[in-house]
Amino acid sequence: MADLAKIGVYGLGTMGSALALNIAENGFDVAVTNRETSWIKDFVAEAGALSDRITGYESLDSFIQGLSKPRTILFMIPSTKPMDDMIETISPLLDEGDTIIDGGNANFHDTRRRSALCAERGLHFVGMGVSGGEAGARKGPSMMVGGTAASWTELKPVAEAISAKFEGNPCVDHLGPDGAGHFVKTVHNGIEYADMQLIAEAHSLLHNGAGMSHADVGGLFENWDKGALKSYLMEITAKTLQATDTVTGKPMVDVILDKAGQKGTGRWTVIEAVKMGQSATIIEAAVAARAWSSEKPMRETAETILGGHRAAIELDPTVLEQALLAARVLDYAQGFRILKAAADEYDWPLDYARIAEIWRAGCIIRSALLDDISDAFRSELPEGQLILAPKFADVLKQGVPALREVVAKAVSAGYAIPALTSAIGFYDSLRQGRGTANVIQSQRDYFGYHGFERVDAEGAHHGSWWDK
Ligand code: 6PG
Repeated sequence: MADLAKIGVYGLGTMGSALALNIAENGFDVAVTNRETSWIKDFVAEAGALSDRITGYESLDSFIQGLSKPRTILFMIPSTKPMDDMIETISPLLDEGDTIIDGGNANFHDTRRRSALCAERGLHFVGMGVSGGEAGARKGPSMMVGGTAASWTELKPVAEAISAKFEGNPCVDHLGPDGAGHFVKTVHNGIEYADMQLIAEAHSLLHNGAGMSHADVGGLFENWDKGALKSYLMEITAKTLQATDTVTGKPMVDVILDKAGQKGTGRWTVIEAVKMGQSATIIEAAVAARAWSSEKPMRETAETILGGHRAAIELDPTVLEQALLAARVLDYAQGFRILKAAADEYDWPLDYARIAEIWRAGCIIRSALLDDISDAFRSELPEGQLILAPKFADVLKQGVPALREVVAKAVSAGYAIPALTSAIGFYDSLRQGRGTANVIQSQRDYFGYHGFERVDAEGAHHGSWWDK
């Protein structure tokens, strides 16, 4: 009889299979099962030498019996109704103290609800964000864990072993209770959306504006990836831009329809930010750009009615590189502001430095900036703001003139650069001690008698608009 496994993996799709193999490769016995039982034998057979550490089970009962106690089961199934149904099915089969892990991209509100439900049943529920796609899951993902301390004690050895490492440091941690891990993963994805859009806008300016070929832009991005902009997204975009379609011989990006999909995490980031009285304009711009991208026929009609002309522009690539760096810093800054708002709202002890650290390898937004971001959060930050850390204030002082130049040129010539534009708007709004809201308050008071605070006296006041 096989030894009892340290952990079970339910769901042998792309991510579940890769994680199960990763667990086995790191020396842990793993029990696996799948809704379609026919997949199980094939998976174990294809695991090669790793199959010694993998035991497949065709029934949920036998799968559970194959696990050492307290049991830890990682579910890689859709985090929607299937997860709720699974909790109902499996709860009666588990014992007090067992842990159910949802490793999908769940909405953290669902994770909070499921945690409370499982707690009533004496079970632990862990919401674990897993980043890095299939390759990450197989070779070392970045993982953001939310749940009870007891469940983390059980999971930690496996999670640390299978995670990506940055200079030997595991890119996984327990970030707080219930939905904290899934929330941090959601914000990770929001930052990811904005970073992707910023890179796409830079490509558009170089290709459509300055007339560079896709391959040349790819080559330039390859160089940028050796400097301050070093990141996984820069690296892969350099590759996609230099790829050729084997069917037509054209650049691959020329044959890809300009309609972007989205599964929802970027949108959730924006929704949650707004619900907490916060904002994430660069991320919102990226979500909006994806939404508008799917209205292809409308855009084609608009081009004929409104005119789609864009003038050529001259761009110094070094200026664009600096502009992009400034915008990326502002994107991360917005992400961390949302994390701070959520930590306050949900009373989560989020460690921002640690979050930056576990994003340094394995995940999609891994970049050279994250090491400096973690250092910044380990020091005293004025007002807790990343952009006010001496290092980033300097980066911005240098990069923002470039960002201004790029945005001004691009907007004058008619290019759609919503993320770059939002970045400069965000920066300029935050660096004004006195903004525009005095006029908003005057309007509110005029039409709604809402009152306002004065600069020179305490309490609520009204304007003299109604005095005769
Ligand atoms: C990651 C990614 C991943 C995400 C997909 C698709 O961190 O590995 O963020 O979790 O689900 O990349 O996301 P969209 O379909 O929303 O672009």
